[in-house]
Amino acid sequence: MLYDFFKFMAFKMDAEKVHELSIKMLSTFPLALSESFGGDISDRDRFQTKLNSMNWDFPVGLAAGLDKTASCIDFFSRIPFGAVEVGTVTPLAQVGNPKPRLFRYKSEESLRNCMGFNNPGSEVVLSNILKSDRNGKMLGVNLGKNKLTTADEAKNDYLKLYRSFKDVSDYLVINVSSPNTPGLRDLQRHDSMREIFINLEEERKTDSTPLFIKISPDLPLDSLEGIVELANEFKLSGIIATNTTIMEERGAGGVSGKLLTAKAKIVRERLLEVMKDHTSLDLIGVGGISSFDDLWDYWKKGGRAAQIYSSFIFQGPTVLFDIQKSIDEKLNQYQFKNLEELFLNIDHCD
Ligand SMILES: Cc1cc2nc3c(=O)[nH]c(=O)nc-3n(C[C@H](O)[C@H](O)[C@H](O)COP(=O)(O)O)c2cc1C
Repeated sequence: MLYDFFKFMAFKMDAEKVHELSIKMLSTFPLALSESFGGDISDRDRFQTKLNSMNWDFPVGLAAGLDKTASCIDFFSRIPFGAVEVGTVTPLAQVGNPKPRLFRYKSEESLRNCMGFNNPGSEVVLSNILKSDRNGKMLGVNLGKNKLTTADEAKNDYLKLYRSFKDVSDYLVINVSSPNTPGLRDLQRHDSMREIFINLEEERKTDSTPLFIKISPDLPLDSLEGIVELANEFKLSGIIATNTTIMEERGAGGVSGKLLTAKAKIVRERLLEVMKDHTSLDLIGVGGISSFDDLWDYWKKGGRAAQIYSSFIFQGPTVLFDIQKSIDEKLNQYQFKNLEELFLNIDHCD
């Protein structure tokens, strides 16, 4: 109800202005607002999702880009998110692309953005993380290169960021998939990714922070196997799939939400197929997930942890409570005591 009222007002205003206003409110009154929206899950054991690299208290996390500044961790970790991913953060502050750069497609429950990694830079994000209380939830930090950093130097941006955030996060993400930083997606070429990981090798010898790579849904399907092999070779924890998709007919930037569902699903399913041979890798599925049915379909194919962004904008915290309720119903139907038991037996459930 509260979110419906907020949305009724907010959707009449410019999308980015509402975003800024919301971040201000959520960072100022995190506890009161999380309580007003329904609070957190009470039985964390029931919904725990075990990955190879970490455990989430709920199978859905917040995707990167909503809390770019890491100023609302206290709020997002007090509603039923299993993990909160902040950023993308770049080493230096940057303003991003000219406005307007965030657009809603209300009837299609989708967004298009060409933000361009607007963020206050790593020092501010780090200080916000240090001030936050993550309520026992997993915290991910999504790392990107500055716009003015050349392709050759990109690997050093990732190294600097890795060093800054490894001790304050539960997982880190190398983001090479935003369509809004010129040349960034070229870093998804296998040789470029290899350079980034080689450059991180020394640092990672003495550090075990789970490391993921976030990829685009626009990659050719036949390149995914190579990415999985690379992830395996460099002992990454896994892959986050997917970022937003380019739809030129809609305009510049990347599209997310229901318009992305089909494409992201194909990429995730191909990855899950290939990852069967590399069982130490985790997939974090994101892109067009907006309901328990989407999750169920993903789980049936072998996926476990998921993230959302756009469906949170269109449904608010209700999307999480609806998913929680549907999981509860499934557990009761099959008399499983927790999600872990459901995952073990999912092939026998419909
Ligand atoms: C306004 C906006 C900003 C985003 N910023 C980032 C970002 O900074 N870093 C990133 O890795 N992904 C970013 N994303 C992509 C989301 O994390 C997610 O991968 C994508 O939106 C697909 O998920 P969804 O369909 O649930 O929205 C952004 C998405 C939106 C809509």
